[in-house]
Amino acid sequence: MNRKELVNRGNRSMALISGFAPKDIFKQVERTAIKGRHLTFIDDLTSKELENLFITAEMLEPFWRSGVTLLNGKILCTLFFQPSTRTRFSHETAMIRLGGSILTESNPLISSSAAKNESLHDSIRVISQYADVLVLRHPDHDRVISDIEKLNSNAIPIISGGYGNVTHPTQGLLDMYTAWRALGNDFHEMTVMIATPDLSRARSGQSFALGLARMGARIVYSGTEGLRTPDVIRSKLDELGANYTEYNDLSKKQQEQLILDEKVDLLYLPGCSVKKGEAGRDDFIKKMEEYYFTVDGLDRIREKSGKSVGVMHSLPRNEGEFDFKIDDTEYELYFKQISFSVPLRMSLLLNVVGVS
Ligand code: CP
Repeated sequence: MNRKELVNRGNRSMALISGFAPKDIFKQVERTAIKGRHLTFIDDLTSKELENLFITAEMLEPFWRSGVTLLNGKILCTLFFQPSTRTRFSHETAMIRLGGSILTESNPLISSSAAKNESLHDSIRVISQYADVLVLRHPDHDRVISDIEKLNSNAIPIISGGYGNVTHPTQGLLDMYTAWRALGNDFHEMTVMIATPDLSRARSGQSFALGLARMGARIVYSGTEGLRTPDVIRSKLDELGANYTEYNDLSKKQQEQLILDEKVDLLYLPGCSVKKGEAGRDDFIKKMEEYYFTVDGLDRIREKSGKSVGVMHSLPRNEGEFDFKIDDTEYELYFKQISFSVPLRMSLLLNVVGVS
């Protein structure tokens, strides 16, 4: 089936097809050229590959609600050993919008054979016989990475939906895409501040940071001593020649000044990764007091700098993390990130599964 027939098949209810035709999505997927690849860290992708993923996502944007049948007959499996709303549902939405189907397991330790002690390695080999691509969330990043290395050619592409504390590349990709859409596509001109009391467990912020480093943006960390950026991320940032500085234990007022001094464009709040009832959560929420950004504060920054700073958050959020009144202001980007997540994940799935 040729491209035109495929597009027409997927176009039963689309009004925006004319915008699709001049840009050939098939050629774009060839240009991106990441078919069959696993995605563990965002810097597994070159700057060219990242840019091509964003271009593909922009081409797919008109279809993120209506759909376009490009992956008809393909199957996505989502296997999540940790809770999720956004990452699992948005990958599943993306696959359905592309005309594919899904197999989903959101409680593997209860209702899959992992409950009978089947190894992750064997589970992935088995799933590889059914599906065309796997999105996996798992608490132990070392174990997943070592299992993926052992699998070699016996596995379908495996995309991290979050491994342990350090990697959540598709969140990083959607954050990059949001920045690209909100501020234009020159990352060299961008400064992003990542602010959280716990940089050691901020896998979304750290994934965003690796992507920003890959694309040449400036990164300003604001965290607390003792909960600093993990070594694995630090070495990657150094390998990438990242332009970054880490500040610790700043007061609210000092952070506001830092935003002005560093000419920050985007403020990224990775949120609390500690589950309800687990040790460290109350301490995190308490420390958030110094990271509580308000509409008044953002207005003051705009008055002094003449610039509106966009606020991003990976969600879910907790009361006390930041002023929810930001929701109704020009600074809000965190719900826009959700809308951008579907075309971005459509782009990722399409490029990794490939169109033949
Ligand atoms: N941002 C994020 O990873 O959300 P979920 O945990 O709901 O997937």
